[in-house]
Amino acid sequence: MRTELSFANLSGIETELLAVLAVDTQTGKGPGAKPEPVLLSTDTAVKAAAAAVLASGEYKAGANETVLLHTPVGLAARRLLIVGLGKQAKATVHSVRNAAGTAVRFTKPRGIRELVFALPETEALTSGACARTAIEGALIGDYDPDKYRSDRKDLSVQLFTLAAPGNADKSAVKAALAEGAIVGESQNFTRMLVNEPGNKLTPTILGQRAQAMAAEVGLNAEVYSTEKLHELKMGAFWSVSQGSEERPALIVVRYEPEGISNGPILGLVGKGITFDTGGISIKPAADMEKMKYDMAGGAAMLGAMRAIALLKPKVRVIGIVCAAENMPDGKAQKPGDVQTSMSGKTIEIINTDAEGRLVLADGLAYARQLGATRLIDAATLTGAVGVALGKVNAGVFSNDEETYGRFASAVEATGEKFWRLPLGEEYAEMIKSDIGDIKNTGGRYGGASTAAEFLKVFVEETPWIHLDIAGMAWVEDARPYIAKGPSGIAVRSILEWVRSY
Ligand code: BES
Ligand code: MN
Ligand code: ZN
Repeated sequence: MRTELSFANLSGIETELLAVLAVDTQTGKGPGAKPEPVLLSTDTAVKAAAAAVLASGEYKAGANETVLLHTPVGLAARRLLIVGLGKQAKATVHSVRNAAGTAVRFTKPRGIRELVFALPETEALTSGACARTAIEGALIGDYDPDKYRSDRKDLSVQLFTLAAPGNADKSAVKAALAEGAIVGESQNFTRMLVNEPGNKLTPTILGQRAQAMAAEVGLNAEVYSTEKLHELKMGAFWSVSQGSEERPALIVVRYEPEGISNGPILGLVGKGITFDTGGISIKPAADMEKMKYDMAGGAAMLGAMRAIALLKPKVRVIGIVCAAENMPDGKAQKPGDVQTSMSGKTIEIINTDAEGRLVLADGLAYARQLGATRLIDAATLTGAVGVALGKVNAGVFSNDEETYGRFASAVEATGEKFWRLPLGEEYAEMIKSDIGDIKNTGGRYGGASTAAEFLKVFVEETPWIHLDIAGMAWVEDARPYIAKGPSGIAVRSILEWVRSY
């Protein structure tokens, strides 16, 4: 998708489709309250073309509600698409992101390859902020996961033009557009990786993809395997990998901006299980195919590193992905086994399906060894987080208020949804082992928190954020602005958190 910018009058823009926004300005409640849709455009010809449908009562300007008008009188555009933002009081730049995605996903299946999206003309929604989210939303909307369909027709939008009001700050809008494109493309890069099935994306191939990406954006990436795991004494990481014919990949991507030799070093650590069968504690067959997305945390880190390389924040960042396949096999680890992690701490394996925390234990310890002074990890770690928060919020845990505060602000800026869940001594108690230091599960209750406490053992005193994205990494039902499939959750918030330093 190419993106362009226009400051021309909307009515004069020649295009296949012009998308404009509307809000519902109705504030009253109760049975008599009728929606009052109002266009967020001051162009008199556009307003005139939309007047009848807005007055009809058929269109309410609900969030992502659309109505299409052909050959609108007085406009050079062939079609006029009105996209709703919902109630005016609740409309934010995040509603604009979704609306842009909705416009693209409306356009795509109709074989229309180009559209113009008019930024809202209202003081509450500034053109700069909306330009960024609109481009993000357009790119996110343009992605479909049908890569392996042999009759696949590439319907992706070729040209997305943002129309900004003539009085907008041109350089601000231009910069916002460039930034939004980087962010949206990086989120799609993550989604593309997450979408790949286990046979097409082994740990080794994930390592190759990371290296190709790094080369493209000018980062340094190293990919290690079994020998390095043994050398570093990563007994926890290796224990997951040992039951698979596929070699593990320890992916290390570095971003080192010139002239920055002090200040924090941020360690981004991702779970990269390219397929999780559960191992000897094997999972039931139902839904097991979903476990190809068990590398979504690792893919989010790679997407964030891509965006970091292109946006060039003034802080050093190390991205680490611990990639392995969790398989049952004659060589697989067994419940009851005791593993010695890189940190020296011993882990009693209760359930081989609690493998994510094992690879992360060594990944987090390694990030600290490489000098990381602040840590963030992302993982599809527990089913329990999905039970607690549904497919609405991802879980976030932290051992440090200042670090968490930065993440909370990042989340607000990106519109992703994370809900903080507790750590605590009582949860730590639940994973004490009789034979060794800790065990890898603490039972069904409080499963997301006991998993987080497990990771905390390896983080020690380093300020740290843990993101459990298991419930949010896959969109189960298509929405108007995003396809069913990989969501790319966490890329934007991790990036924003990094940029806060
Ligand atoms: N990858 C799973 C968690 C998961 C579940 C991700 C659903 C996405 C959707 C993880 O490795 C796992 O199996 N966790 C176990 C832990 C348990 C054995 C303590 C779980 O949540 O059941
Ligand atoms: Mn598992
Ligand atoms: Zn897993």
